[in-house]
Parts: sequence; C-alpha cells; structure tokens
Amino acid sequence: MSTVYLNGEFLPMHEARISPMDRGFLFGDGIYEVIPSYGGRTVGLGPHLTRLQQGLQAIGMVLPDIEWTHLIEQLLDQNGRGNLGVYLHVSRGTDTRRFHAYPDPKSVPATIFAFTFDIPAEPVADISLCKKYRVALSEDQRWRRCHIKSTALLGNVMHFQEGYSAGLDETILHNSDGCITEASACNVFVVKEGVVYTPPLDHQLLPGITRQILLDILRNHSEIDALEQMITLEQLNNADEVWLTSSSKELAPVIEIAGKPVANGEVGPLWLQAQRLFSQYKYQY
Ligand code: PDD
Repeated sequence: MSTVYLNGEFLPMHEARISPMDRGFLFGDGIYEVIPSYGGRTVGLGPHLTRLQQGLQAIGMVLPDIEWTHLIEQLLDQNGRGNLGVYLHVSRGTDTRRFHAYPDPKSVPATIFAFTFDIPAEPVADISLCKKYRVALSEDQRWRRCHIKSTALLGNVMHFQEGYSAGLDETILHNSDGCITEASACNVFVVKEGVVYTPPLDHQLLPGITRQILLDILRNHSEIDALEQMITLEQLNNADEVWLTSSSKELAPVIEIAGKPVANGEVGPLWLQAQRLFSQYKYQY
C-alpha cells in the first residue's frame, strides 16, 4: 500500500481526500514536479526544487515553507526506497466558491500533495537493452506558457494521445514556423555531424532538468559540442540521431519519426556515449 503526503500528514493513498473545490481540480491551478530516485538516491533534487519555486513564483504563489528534502526522504523511506518517481504538487488551495481571481493565501492556503510511483530500473547505456522510441510529429497546439510546469496538462495529454493511439511512444512538436519545441512530456535533442543541438529555452518549452543536467555534463565532462539552437523540421529530418530526455527516461533514442527512420533507423554512437556520461555523473546533481 503506498503512503502519500497531504497537507502535513503521511497517510495511505486510499485515505487521502481533496475537496472538489480545490483550484487544482477546478482550474488546473497548480505546479508539479517529478523527481526520479533509485534505491533512495534522487537525481537533480536541488534543480527540481528550484524549478518548483520558480513555477510557483510565475503564477503568483510562494513555495510553501516546509522541509521539502525531509518530506521527500520520509516518503521514499515509507515506500521502500526502490526505483521511485516522486510526484510533488502544489495547488492554489480549496476556496469556498468557483471564482477565477486568486484568493488571499492567508485564508486559502496551498494544497500540498506528494506521492511516489514505480519507475523502470535505472537506464543503462547499452544499445541492445535500451528502449527504441518511435514517435509522431505534430504542430504544437498548447498555450504560450510552456515554460511553466503547470498541472493543467490537457494540451500535453492530447498531443501524447496522438502518438499513443497510433501505437507510438511520444509526439515531437513543432511550432507554426517549423521549429521544434519539445515533445508532449520530454525535451528533444538532435545530433548532426558529431554536434548535439537542443532548442533554446523560452516560453515554448519546459526547462527540463534532464536537459539541464545533460548539457552541463556534455560541456564539463566531454569533448562533445552541445549547443542551444533552433532546430527546423528539415534539420530534424536530416538528423544523424534524435533523443528525448525526461526524468524517468534519461536519454531515450528515437529511431523513427512519423513513419520515417532517423538516419539508418538504428541507435547511434553519440547516444551511447552521452547516456554513459549521464549515468556516470547524474548523482552529482
Ligand atoms: N515530464 N517537457 C515536458 C512537456 C515535460 O512534461 C517534461 C517532463 C519534460 C522533461 O523535463 P524533466 O527532464 O525535468 O523531467 C519536458 C514529466 C516527467 C511528467 O510530466 O511526467
């Protein structure tokens, strides 16, 4: 039975109760995080908490003053310290009426919810063992604040479903100018002639923590050039390698996009090198 955290209490999942008047439920008015952990060791805890704080600030809230690291440690302990994703969720609380304006946080405190869920074992840098991703390609129809990790995920959910209902693993998104933004729940990297590219941060994509850690590792622990640059659909089509990154996947090699193979349709050598480096250094973040 999984143990969750809700507003100061640890309790069994089936006993957790949130009011239907919670603004997270009514408006998707909240911010969330997903932090990976393996055997009790988290990856990127500091950057994830910083992003949570920045996301809350962007929607006019403040990070609730609780011992987040201690909360996460307790949650991991109570759920067996296996391969666990930690989900953190802060919504703008439970009001008495459905009214769009932000309520006064003194009378309507934030709702804080956290739980863990099983994630696959640590990804290993092995071409024969890794999952190979086949993905859809679609025009990004989400809002213009994709840098905020909002719990209002319907736009992402609908894009994910486009790929999923076609038997695919993800959906890569491009804007109306034909530039890649990200995928429905991942960031996108492209390799061309030995150089790694990912779109620069702006309102069109989430500042992924895996993306941030990977760029830092490539720049500080390898000879591989890693650039933040716009990627056009043409560049995506002509890429030597394409990867997706996210907390639960780390680096996921893409071998097919919209029915067409990426290069020769096999996992490339830079993926192997980069995933090896990621596995080696990730616990330093
Ligand atoms: N998804 N872009 C989007 C839209 C995402 O939802 C995610 C993460 C990422 C990658 O971010 P990070 O490296 O910090 O996990 C990029 C999470 C895991 C989710 O919603 O489950």
